[in-house]
Amino acid sequence: MTDRRDPDRNDWDSTAYDGSHSFVYEYGADVVDLLDPQPDERILDLGCGTGHLTDRIAGSAAEVVGVDRSAEMIGEARASYPAHEFRRADAREFTASKPFDAVFSNAALHWIDDQDAVCERVVDALRPGGRFVAELGGAGNVAAIVAAVAAESTARGYEPPADPWYFPTVGEHAARLEAHGFEVRYATLFDRPTELDGGDDGLRAWLRMFGDRLLGSIPDDRRSAVVDGVADRLRDELYDDGTWTADYRRLRFVAGSQST
Ligand code: BEZ
Repeated sequence: MTDRRDPDRNDWDSTAYDGSHSFVYEYGADVVDLLDPQPDERILDLGCGTGHLTDRIAGSAAEVVGVDRSAEMIGEARASYPAHEFRRADAREFTASKPFDAVFSNAALHWIDDQDAVCERVVDALRPGGRFVAELGGAGNVAAIVAAVAAESTARGYEPPADPWYFPTVGEHAARLEAHGFEVRYATLFDRPTELDGGDDGLRAWLRMFGDRLLGSIPDDRRSAVVDGVADRLRDELYDDGTWTADYRRLRFVAGSQST
Protein backbone atom coordinates (compact mmCIF):
# COMPACT_ATOMS: atom_id res chain seq x y z
CA MET A 1 0.00 0.00 0.00
CA THR A 2 0.90 2.63 1.05
CA ASP A 3 4.44 3.27 0.97
CA ARG A 4 5.79 -0.05 0.08
CA ARG A 5 8.53 1.92 -1.70
CA ASP A 6 9.88 5.34 -1.26
CA PRO A 7 7.45 7.47 -3.27
CA ASP A 8 10.37 9.48 -4.62
CA ARG A 9 11.80 6.43 -6.28
CA ASN A 10 10.38 3.92 -8.76
CA ASP A 11 6.80 2.82 -8.51
CA TRP A 12 6.15 -0.85 -7.83
CA ASP A 13 6.85 -3.38 -10.49
CA SER A 14 3.69 -5.46 -10.20
CA THR A 15 4.94 -8.06 -12.70
CA ALA A 16 8.10 -8.76 -10.71
CA TYR A 17 6.05 -8.68 -7.51
CA ASP A 18 3.71 -11.39 -8.79
CA GLY A 19 6.32 -13.38 -10.66
CA SER A 20 9.33 -13.54 -8.37
CA HIS A 21 7.91 -12.68 -4.97
CA SER A 22 4.67 -14.65 -4.99
CA PHE A 23 5.52 -15.95 -1.50
CA VAL A 24 4.17 -12.63 -0.17
CA TYR A 25 0.58 -13.52 -0.98
CA GLU A 26 1.05 -17.28 -0.75
CA TYR A 27 1.99 -16.97 2.93
CA GLY A 28 -0.87 -14.48 3.30
CA ALA A 29 -3.38 -17.31 2.88
CA ASP A 30 -2.80 -18.16 6.57
CA VAL A 31 -3.72 -14.60 7.53
CA VAL A 32 -6.97 -14.92 5.56
CA ASP A 33 -7.69 -18.06 7.61
CA LEU A 34 -7.12 -16.00 10.77
CA LEU A 35 -9.52 -13.36 9.41
CA ASP A 36 -12.13 -16.09 8.90
CA PRO A 37 -14.34 -14.04 6.54
CA GLN A 38 -18.07 -14.75 6.79
CA PRO A 39 -20.69 -14.81 4.01
CA ASP A 40 -22.51 -11.71 5.24
CA GLU A 41 -19.41 -9.56 5.82
CA ARG A 42 -18.02 -6.49 4.10
CA ILE A 43 -14.21 -6.50 4.32
CA LEU A 44 -11.45 -4.04 3.48
CA ASP A 45 -8.08 -5.36 2.28
CA LEU A 46 -5.61 -2.62 3.19
CA GLY A 47 -2.47 -2.74 1.03
CA CYS A 48 -4.01 -5.25 -1.36
CA GLY A 49 -1.17 -5.21 -3.91
CA THR A 50 -2.15 -7.17 -7.00
CA GLY A 51 -5.37 -8.37 -5.36
CA HIS A 52 -4.78 -12.11 -4.93
CA LEU A 53 -5.74 -12.13 -1.26
CA THR A 54 -8.64 -9.76 -1.92
CA ASP A 55 -9.94 -12.39 -4.31
CA ARG A 56 -9.37 -15.13 -1.76
CA ILE A 57 -11.34 -13.18 0.85
CA ALA A 58 -14.10 -12.59 -1.71
CA GLY A 59 -14.50 -16.37 -1.92
CA SER A 60 -16.05 -16.27 1.57
CA ALA A 61 -17.27 -12.71 2.20
CA ALA A 62 -20.26 -10.85 0.78
CA GLU A 63 -18.24 -7.85 -0.32
CA VAL A 64 -14.56 -6.93 -0.35
CA VAL A 65 -12.79 -3.72 -1.29
CA GLY A 66 -9.05 -3.67 -2.02
CA VAL A 67 -7.08 -0.51 -1.38
CA ASP A 68 -3.48 0.23 -2.29
CA ARG A 69 -1.41 3.35 -2.70
CA SER A 70 0.35 2.08 -5.82
CA ALA A 71 -1.42 2.89 -9.08
CA GLU A 72 0.41 0.05 -10.77
CA MET A 73 -0.72 -2.52 -8.20
CA ILE A 74 -4.32 -1.29 -8.38
CA GLY A 75 -4.22 -1.42 -12.19
CA GLU A 76 -3.00 -5.02 -12.07
CA ALA A 77 -5.59 -5.98 -9.42
CA ARG A 78 -8.44 -4.50 -11.48
CA ALA A 79 -7.25 -6.29 -14.62
CA SER A 80 -6.97 -9.65 -12.81
CA TYR A 81 -10.16 -9.40 -10.77
CA PRO A 82 -12.66 -7.11 -12.53
CA ALA A 83 -15.52 -8.36 -10.34
CA HIS A 84 -14.04 -6.78 -7.20
CA GLU A 85 -13.78 -3.14 -6.20
CA PHE A 86 -10.24 -1.72 -5.98
CA ARG A 87 -9.43 1.82 -4.94
CA ARG A 88 -6.18 3.73 -4.99
CA ALA A 89 -5.76 5.30 -1.57
CA ASP A 90 -3.24 5.88 1.20
CA ALA A 91 -3.70 3.90 4.44
CA ARG A 92 -3.01 7.07 6.43
CA GLU A 93 -5.78 9.02 4.70
CA PHE A 94 -8.50 6.79 3.27
CA THR A 95 -12.15 7.07 4.28
CA ALA A 96 -14.85 4.42 3.98
CA SER A 97 -18.15 5.26 2.33
CA LYS A 98 -19.87 2.47 4.34
CA PRO A 99 -18.55 0.77 7.50
CA PHE A 100 -16.63 -2.48 7.21
CA ASP A 101 -17.04 -5.56 9.43
CA ALA A 102 -13.31 -6.21 9.25
CA VAL A 103 -10.11 -4.62 8.01
CA PHE A 104 -7.44 -7.05 6.80
CA SER A 105 -3.81 -6.37 5.93
CA ASN A 106 -0.93 -8.61 4.87
CA ALA A 107 2.71 -7.51 4.54
CA ALA A 108 1.84 -3.86 4.02
CA LEU A 109 1.74 -2.07 7.38
CA HIS A 110 5.50 -2.18 7.95
CA TRP A 111 6.01 0.19 5.00
CA ILE A 112 4.04 2.94 6.68
CA ASP A 113 5.70 5.54 8.86
CA ASP A 114 2.65 6.96 10.64
CA GLN A 115 1.00 3.97 12.31
CA ASP A 116 -1.22 6.18 14.48
CA ALA A 117 -2.79 7.65 11.36
CA VAL A 118 -3.43 4.13 10.07
CA CYS A 119 -5.08 3.09 13.36
CA GLU A 120 -7.29 6.18 13.28
CA ARG A 121 -8.40 5.47 9.73
CA VAL A 122 -9.08 1.80 10.53
CA VAL A 123 -11.14 2.67 13.62
CA ASP A 124 -13.11 5.11 11.51
CA ALA A 125 -13.69 2.54 8.75
CA LEU A 126 -14.90 -0.26 11.06
CA ARG A 127 -18.40 -0.72 12.38
CA PRO A 128 -18.59 -0.80 16.20
CA GLY A 129 -17.33 -4.23 17.30
CA GLY A 130 -15.53 -4.82 13.99
CA ARG A 131 -12.09 -6.43 13.79
CA PHE A 132 -8.64 -5.54 12.50
CA VAL A 133 -6.65 -8.62 11.44
CA ALA A 134 -3.15 -8.20 10.08
CA GLU A 135 0.34 -9.54 9.59
CA LEU A 136 3.43 -7.39 9.23
CA GLY A 137 7.15 -7.73 9.76
CA GLY A 138 7.85 -7.95 13.50
CA ALA A 139 10.82 -6.98 15.67
CA GLY A 140 14.01 -8.46 14.24
CA ASN A 141 12.53 -8.98 10.77
CA VAL A 142 15.25 -9.21 8.10
CA ALA A 143 17.76 -8.12 10.76
CA ALA A 144 20.65 -10.01 9.15
CA ILE A 145 19.96 -8.38 5.78
CA VAL A 146 19.66 -4.91 7.30
CA ALA A 147 22.91 -5.42 9.28
CA ALA A 148 24.80 -6.66 6.20
CA VAL A 149 23.64 -3.68 4.12
CA ALA A 150 24.66 -1.33 6.94
CA ALA A 151 28.11 -2.97 7.25
CA GLU A 152 28.72 -2.95 3.49
CA SER A 153 27.49 0.65 3.13
CA THR A 154 29.70 1.84 5.99
CA ALA A 155 32.72 -0.05 4.65
CA ARG A 156 32.29 1.78 1.34
CA GLY A 157 31.79 5.20 2.93
CA TYR A 158 28.01 5.48 2.51
CA GLU A 159 25.51 6.39 5.22
CA PRO A 160 23.94 3.19 6.65
CA PRO A 161 20.13 2.99 6.49
CA ALA A 162 18.23 4.20 9.56
CA ASP A 163 15.06 2.28 10.53
CA PRO A 164 13.77 1.70 7.02
CA TRP A 165 10.61 -0.12 8.15
CA TYR A 166 8.23 -0.42 11.10
CA PHE A 167 8.92 -3.80 12.72
CA PRO A 168 7.36 -3.58 16.21
CA THR A 169 7.41 -5.94 19.17
CA VAL A 170 4.09 -7.40 20.31
CA GLY A 171 4.13 -5.03 23.30
CA GLU A 172 4.78 -1.95 21.19
CA HIS A 173 2.09 -2.68 18.65
CA ALA A 174 -0.50 -3.94 21.13
CA ALA A 175 -0.06 -0.76 23.19
CA ARG A 176 -0.58 1.32 20.06
CA LEU A 177 -3.74 -0.58 19.14
CA GLU A 178 -5.07 -0.18 22.68
CA ALA A 179 -4.33 3.53 22.63
CA HIS A 180 -6.72 3.69 19.67
CA GLY A 181 -9.45 1.84 21.56
CA PHE A 182 -8.87 -1.66 20.18
CA GLU A 183 -9.02 -4.74 22.36
CA VAL A 184 -6.13 -6.98 21.36
CA ARG A 185 -7.47 -10.52 21.30
CA TYR A 186 -4.50 -12.25 19.75
CA ALA A 187 -0.95 -11.20 18.98
CA THR A 188 2.09 -13.30 18.19
CA LEU A 189 5.65 -12.78 16.96
CA PHE A 190 7.33 -15.72 15.25
CA ASP A 191 10.28 -16.59 13.03
CA ARG A 192 9.33 -17.43 9.48
CA PRO A 193 12.50 -18.06 7.46
CA THR A 194 11.36 -17.41 3.89
CA GLU A 195 12.92 -18.98 0.82
CA LEU A 196 13.42 -16.40 -1.90
CA ASP A 197 12.64 -17.19 -5.52
CA GLY A 198 15.42 -16.82 -8.08
CA GLY A 199 18.07 -19.32 -6.98
CA ASP A 200 21.52 -17.72 -6.84
CA ASP A 201 19.95 -14.38 -7.74
CA GLY A 202 17.27 -14.57 -5.00
CA LEU A 203 18.82 -12.06 -2.59
CA ARG A 204 19.65 -9.62 -5.39
CA ALA A 205 16.09 -9.90 -6.74
CA TRP A 206 14.68 -9.25 -3.25
CA LEU A 207 16.89 -6.18 -2.83
CA ARG A 208 15.92 -4.91 -6.29
CA MET A 209 12.22 -5.24 -5.45
CA PHE A 210 12.18 -4.15 -1.83
CA GLY A 211 15.55 -2.57 -1.06
CA ASP A 212 15.21 1.09 -2.03
CA ARG A 213 14.97 2.22 1.56
CA LEU A 214 18.00 0.13 2.51
CA LEU A 215 20.16 1.21 -0.40
CA GLY A 216 18.89 4.78 -0.64
CA SER A 217 22.23 6.47 0.09
CA ILE A 218 24.05 4.50 -2.61
CA PRO A 219 24.32 5.95 -6.12
CA ASP A 220 22.54 3.80 -8.71
CA ASP A 221 25.77 2.94 -10.53
CA ARG A 222 27.34 1.59 -7.29
CA ARG A 223 24.38 -0.47 -6.12
CA SER A 224 25.22 -3.66 -7.90
CA ALA A 225 28.73 -3.74 -6.32
CA VAL A 226 27.23 -3.05 -2.89
CA VAL A 227 24.63 -5.78 -3.35
CA ASP A 228 27.39 -8.24 -4.34
CA GLY A 229 29.21 -7.29 -1.12
CA VAL A 230 26.02 -7.79 0.89
CA ALA A 231 25.55 -11.25 -0.67
CA ASP A 232 29.14 -12.19 0.26
CA ARG A 233 28.51 -11.13 3.85
CA LEU A 234 25.29 -13.17 4.10
CA ARG A 235 26.19 -16.30 2.13
CA ASP A 236 27.19 -18.45 5.12
CA GLU A 237 24.08 -17.50 7.07
CA LEU A 238 21.30 -17.27 4.47
CA TYR A 239 22.36 -19.29 1.41
CA ASP A 240 22.23 -23.04 1.08
CA ASP A 241 22.20 -25.38 -1.86
CA GLY A 242 21.17 -22.81 -4.46
CA THR A 243 18.55 -21.03 -2.35
CA TRP A 244 18.56 -17.81 -0.34
CA THR A 245 16.39 -17.74 2.78
CA ALA A 246 15.48 -14.36 4.26
CA ASP A 247 15.30 -14.07 8.04
CA TYR A 248 11.64 -13.03 8.19
CA ARG A 249 9.86 -12.60 11.53
CA ARG A 250 6.13 -11.95 11.49
CA LEU A 251 3.81 -10.15 13.87
CA ARG A 252 0.20 -11.25 13.57
CA PHE A 253 -2.72 -9.80 15.46
CA VAL A 254 -6.50 -9.75 15.81
CA ALA A 255 -7.93 -6.64 17.48
CA GLY A 256 -11.55 -5.73 18.07
CA SER A 257 -12.89 -2.20 17.85
CA GLN A 258 -15.13 -0.84 20.62
CA SER A 259 -18.67 -2.10 20.38
CA THR A 260 -20.33 1.28 21.00
C1 BEZ B 1 8.41 -8.20 4.81
O1 BEZ B 1 7.39 -8.61 4.26
O2 BEZ B 1 8.71 -8.54 5.96
C2 BEZ B 1 9.31 -7.26 4.12
C3 BEZ B 1 9.28 -7.19 2.76
C4 BEZ B 1 10.11 -6.29 2.13
C5 BEZ B 1 10.96 -5.49 2.85
C6 BEZ B 1 10.98 -5.59 4.22
C7 BEZ B 1 10.16 -6.48 4.85
